[in-house]
Amino acid sequence: MIAIDEQRLLGRIHELGAVGRDGEGRLIRLAASDADRQGRDLFVGWLRQAGLDVAIDRIGNIFGIWQTPDNAGQAPVFIGSHIDTVIDAGIYDGCYGVLAGLEVIETLKASGLVPSRPLAVAAFTNEEGVRFSPDMMGSLVHAGGMGVEAALAAIGTDGKTLGAELARIGYAGEYEPGFLKPHVYVELHIEQGPVLEREGIPIGAVENLQGISWQRVTLDGVANHAGTTPMSMRRDAGYAAARVATFLHDQAAASNSPTVATIGTMRFEPNAINVIPSRAVFTVDLRDPDELRLQAHEAALSAFLEQVAAEGIAVTVERLARFEPVVFDRQVVELIERAARKRGLASRRMTSGAGHDAQMMARIAPAAMIFVPSAGGISHNPREHTEDAELVAGANVLLDVVAELVGTEGRGNG
Ligand code: GLV
Ligand code: MN
Ligand code: MN
Repeated sequence: MIAIDEQRLLGRIHELGAVGRDGEGRLIRLAASDADRQGRDLFVGWLRQAGLDVAIDRIGNIFGIWQTPDNAGQAPVFIGSHIDTVIDAGIYDGCYGVLAGLEVIETLKASGLVPSRPLAVAAFTNEEGVRFSPDMMGSLVHAGGMGVEAALAAIGTDGKTLGAELARIGYAGEYEPGFLKPHVYVELHIEQGPVLEREGIPIGAVENLQGISWQRVTLDGVANHAGTTPMSMRRDAGYAAARVATFLHDQAAASNSPTVATIGTMRFEPNAINVIPSRAVFTVDLRDPDELRLQAHEAALSAFLEQVAAEGIAVTVERLARFEPVVFDRQVVELIERAARKRGLASRRMTSGAGHDAQMMARIAPAAMIFVPSAGGISHNPREHTEDAELVAGANVLLDVVAELVGTEGRGNG
């Protein structure tokens, strides 16, 4: 059995993880930032070293392609994920899948395999969606779910547009998004949840992914003196926001279902200790594997906001992202299970709680995902951790899945 080069993969994960540290050592590589440029440059250097063709499209997605004269023009087996990060991130989210994809292609190239199709590894732009909405943007555009002009016009949390920022960092490429149509898409990722670790299972064969609803809510009341305004005479946007937060949390917690609800950002105006807030702006992240239940939670939130409005607070809601749940391709899921079994690794089917580029690629090709355990189920946090042996095991399962998909004829020195 051929195997990936463990030290090369692990070394690259750590090298990329050192890029984009702020003065306090926090990892922050937001999409199309200077730090993102440094991470991209490092990755592109590795693609070139591996002898892959490098292509960058207009939304900044980076592709490393291995094709031979015999298979050129055929739809590639496609591996992908992202190398942008959240604020104060861990080093594995996204990066593991991209670097394992490169590792798998390098390993197969060196093995003497004569692939029946090209192989491609992609690093998609702005998967995290922290700076620009929606999340999974690069893969969404690649899959034709959003026009490239609209995506480039997206305004970031710092007021800059994605298009201008990509041009500034030198990653506004020439290729039209979607130029490379996948034959099959596979994504390897850390679980980012507690299931695999709790059950002592090294491999997740991800069969579906929950729906995601992102909204930004602005509540407008009236600023007034905190000391002189009787409680009965207030139009307090801060208090209204706190009530919405409590409502959302309690509704999800009481639902006896996998529904999850998060208010991850909130700001007040004027934001002063002795002034009743005139304005509160916050984001809502609602997720559920069941589309109808997700709709019901969205409707309940709307009804609660109407009640808040009836009490004298003006309510404005903007939709930032909305993706329905996705069911992955059964044959690819079964292929992952078989590959794990052949390596002597237990696997279980599972649902992804996080959003992934695979959910966009599933619109245009059979797709599925492989998960490896996350220590303590922690992610979007610098304490995110997966054991080296687990990372290597996942990459070898990806290797076998991809080898199977591109055909195994002519394997030489493996
Ligand atoms: C992506 O990390 C997400 O928010 O699920
Ligand atoms: Mn990710
Ligand atoms: Mn993430």
